[in-house]
Amino acid sequence: MAEIQQLLAKPEVRLLTLTGAGGSGKTRIALALARLTGHRYANGVALVELASLRDAALVTSAIADALGVQRSPGDDALADWLADREVLLVVDNVEHLPEAFPQLAALVARAPRLTVLATGRRVMHVSGEHVYPVAPLAEDAAADLFVQRARAAHPAFAGDPADPDVVAICRRLDGLPLAIELAAARVATLPTSTLLDRLASRLTLLTVGPHDLPARQRTLRETLAWSANLLTGPQRTALARMSVFPRAAPSTAPSGSSTPTSTPSPPSSTTTSSAASTPTPPSAT
Ligand SMILES: Nc1ncnc2c1ncn2[C@@H]1O[C@H](COP(=O)(O)OP(=O)(O)OP(=O)(O)O)[C@@H](O)[C@H]1O
Ligand SMILES: [Mg+2]
Repeated sequence: MAEIQQLLAKPEVRLLTLTGAGGSGKTRIALALARLTGHRYANGVALVELASLRDAALVTSAIADALGVQRSPGDDALADWLADREVLLVVDNVEHLPEAFPQLAALVARAPRLTVLATGRRVMHVSGEHVYPVAPLAEDAAADLFVQRARAAHPAFAGDPADPDVVAICRRLDGLPLAIELAAARVATLPTSTLLDRLASRLTLLTVGPHDLPARQRTLRETLAWSANLLTGPQRTALARMSVFPRAAPSTAPSGSSTPTSTPSPPSSTTTSSAASTPTPPSAT
């Protein structure tokens, strides 16, 4: 967190994208940063949630609404309004609206005192963008999170962060906070040893997210599906072919002369890390 704060404090960093797998904690970090650093911006902080938006043409109005700017269609009122205001604008979940990426970059270019902190499962690749990849949780933090969420779900939960099953579960889930939360929610009905065994089929096991989470985060399958939907048809085909590799694929493997004529079925034990910033389709586990 301190590292990102330092980055955000640099005058040249005015468009910062926190990127990483679904459920890696990008939104959580962005909101925490807004709370911690908001006072540095003379005209305050605004949050724009894009996850539910389906049309990139509406991004500018969503930003204007968040800032309380009266904006009539076709005018430049937003850029004008921002021209002399110092604002931190948190733009959450940009990944599914690529047509809006240049708009955000243009807004930052036109408004010299605007800083945009974006979150997305992918990098925008626009001028002026700085990228901070959100890393998975370290082992001890992951185990702490599991125990904390397990106790919340089941007060009688007796495990502690040093429990080998807890450590192994978190390792199996690659330290991904959302997957750890979904797994911890199962401790009321499954002992951790059984949970660990059943993690071979994560997509069918990690299905009981809290109802107040966005739909895409209530199950691991939905989380992966949201990322998969960002892919074009050929990208999806390439990824399905790559999924024959149970872990990291060698970078040269899929690009050579061998072109499989049919899409192989993915193995039943794809790792959640394969869902990292590179979108991954749900497998049939
Ligand atoms: N370091 C952490 N400690 C505790 N809980 C965490 C941590 N990071 C994330 N979480 C929890 O994990 C869940 C997913 O986090 P978050 O929504 O921030 O992920 P995200 O990367 O924004 O996902 P998406 O790509 O779907 O928007 C949330 O319930 C959040 O509270
Ligand atoms: Mg998010």
